[in-house]
Amino acid sequence: MNTAIRCSLATLALGLTAPLAAQADALEQQLDDLQDFQIIAHRGASGHAPEHTWPSYEKAREMGADYLELDLHMSADGELMVIHDDTLDRTTDGTGQVKAHTLAELKALDVGGWFNQAHPERADEAFTGARMLTLDEVIDRYGTDVRYYIETKSPERYPELQHSLVETLEAEGLVESGSVAIQSFSQDSLRQIHDLNADIPLVQLVWYSPTEDGNGLTEWTGVTPPPAEISDADLQAIADYAVGIGPNVVYDGEDVIDAGFVEQAHDNGLLVHPYTINDPEQMQRLLDWGVDGMFTNFPDRLSELVE
Ligand code: G3P
Ligand code: CA
Repeated sequence: MNTAIRCSLATLALGLTAPLAAQADALEQQLDDLQDFQIIAHRGASGHAPEHTWPSYEKAREMGADYLELDLHMSADGELMVIHDDTLDRTTDGTGQVKAHTLAELKALDVGGWFNQAHPERADEAFTGARMLTLDEVIDRYGTDVRYYIETKSPERYPELQHSLVETLEAEGLVESGSVAIQSFSQDSLRQIHDLNADIPLVQLVWYSPTEDGNGLTEWTGVTPPPAEISDADLQAIADYAVGIGPNVVYDGEDVIDAGFVEQAHDNGLLVHPYTINDPEQMQRLLDWGVDGMFTNFPDRLSELVE
């Protein structure tokens, strides 16, 4: 487990006042809980309801999710908005870049209706008219009743996102209560967050795909070499700021990682949380590899396997 965070917590707990000791206990509890298998509801229970809407989050909670996964962008006027894509076109009745619209403009969009057309077998009229959520709204509703697994999306587009996010989480007491983990494909984003608050558990996302010549794999932003060439030093470099690594498992039907990847990550103190796993057979295969959690659109399927 990430020794840097644990040492900092142990120091904090020794000889401090009761509230500070409680804070250390809550963070320690979160790290302990991360040693158990974690069900991470990917955009909520987004296989059952429109992603990043109240129905999606409510279903995720009912289905036993340990974390709600939230993707963050920013509005033109600086509000932290929960939406996956850079653009509005796929999941709203608007068009264009998220960052080109104000909060008021984004709140006027329907973020639920698309789901009924895309997934008629799971359609529900109640989804139509759902509104895009701000991070503040999600936190206001759930507080410390849930844990949040927040992804900083396109941080290069929003240089101020990291600061704004950490400020919000600290103001709401979500770091000290052990309620939040942060993930990103951007090493720079995670390092910025680590510098702002070293108590927040971080997970480095990686995405492996074939090289252009088709002779091997490459990681999207160069965070690691291809899985077959990863050294312990590569993983130790991630463990300096993160508690875990979140890889894709398959590209175009072919595995990009294997059980050895999981074992090597564990040997270097990193949890392994693969994304996004919706098929029960695939879930079971990864459970057999010993992964520590999974992102899924169907928390109910994963709950059945790990109960
Ligand atoms: O955050 C894990 C996974 O969600 C990364 O992929 O594109 O679904 O955000 P994406
Ligand atoms: Ca995500």
